[in-house]
Amino acid sequence: MIGDVTLNWPSVIEFGSGRLEKLKEHLGGCRRVFILSDPPIMTKIEPVVGELKSQSIEVQVSTDVVPEPPFEALERLLEPVRTFDPDAVVGVGGGSAMDLAKLVAVLFSGAQRAEEIIGIGKVKTRKVKLVTVSTTSGTGSEVTPIAVLTDIQHKLKKGMVSTFLVPDVAIVDPELTLTLPPAITAATGMDAMTHCIEQYTNRHAHPIIDNIALAGIRLIAANLETAVHSGDSLEARTAMALGSLYGGLGLGPVNTAAVHALAYPLGGEFKIPHGVSNSVLLPFVMDFNLPACVDKYADIAEAVGIPPHGSREEMAKQGILKIREISERCGIPSSIHEFGIPESAIPSMAEAAMKVKRLLDNNPRTVDLEGAESIYRKAYQGVVE
Ligand SMILES: [Fe+2]
Repeated sequence: MIGDVTLNWPSVIEFGSGRLEKLKEHLGGCRRVFILSDPPIMTKIEPVVGELKSQSIEVQVSTDVVPEPPFEALERLLEPVRTFDPDAVVGVGGGSAMDLAKLVAVLFSGAQRAEEIIGIGKVKTRKVKLVTVSTTSGTGSEVTPIAVLTDIQHKLKKGMVSTFLVPDVAIVDPELTLTLPPAITAATGMDAMTHCIEQYTNRHAHPIIDNIALAGIRLIAANLETAVHSGDSLEARTAMALGSLYGGLGLGPVNTAAVHALAYPLGGEFKIPHGVSNSVLLPFVMDFNLPACVDKYADIAEAVGIPPHGSREEMAKQGILKIREISERCGIPSSIHEFGIPESAIPSMAEAAMKVKRLLDNNPRTVDLEGAESIYRKAYQGVVE
């Protein structure tokens, strides 16, 4: 029987080359606009800022974006934005810039503190317009109700989920990704692949998202290597932007599962970029999940280009190996010991991952402490069975 689902997406999604042009249209009628931008993309944003100013819109720009932002990075932004008192907040960049902008939009008034909105449904309101402009192909944050910050003290990522974090307008312009370096293209692309796989095999999977997720897997598998190795291919970049958008559209309704939960300690404690953490763990979590979702993994195998043959289980296993191969060919390490993580850290990482219950609950196979440790140990050795 077909289950229920809530689709809480931006009212407007602008997709396509040159769509950055639409930003000024969507900010028409605003008086004061705060833009938080990743520094490398500022040259592309400056002309838009000029046009906004020429329409008598006051614009304040900050490039104070750090990767995997801690709570302190958000705190730094809030005070000056409070003084500026914008009626629109725009986040331009990858997941870090967009997540920070989303949080600034709901918190700058001072009515709530960041610590109070950790978890699901804790944000009380948002009074300003929120626009996201995605400049990487992976995070999906441009269309999600989710923002993530790093808790440095507890060495863990903390997620905030709220309808008020869903942007009003999301702009996905593949031209903005043409200059992304290969390593970021690879990491963000594999993050998007992980989003699609974890949605398709999710305990709360839904046919609407299944179709989108499978289409995303097909696009990413067929185009990621080209986007990494021939970054100026607008065709590959556009396909990746669409695959990533597909992955993002499923994050609110269905969300991710054990790969993301187990990746959190790698980011929180060892500062490994989000997409890289996911990519290195993905084949090992899939291997662990295999008994619970042979058919779905066989579908995924077809989506990544394995011609149908043999048993569904054979197909599923070949799909897992193909995904690992794609990740390796994009330059991502295939074991966690390559990051210098000591084997002795595994028990504490497993304990930390068990705290990410909201994602573990989505996993097709139950992951207990022992299961989490076994996945990390296999990922440490780098051997998929
Ligand atoms: Fe992710």
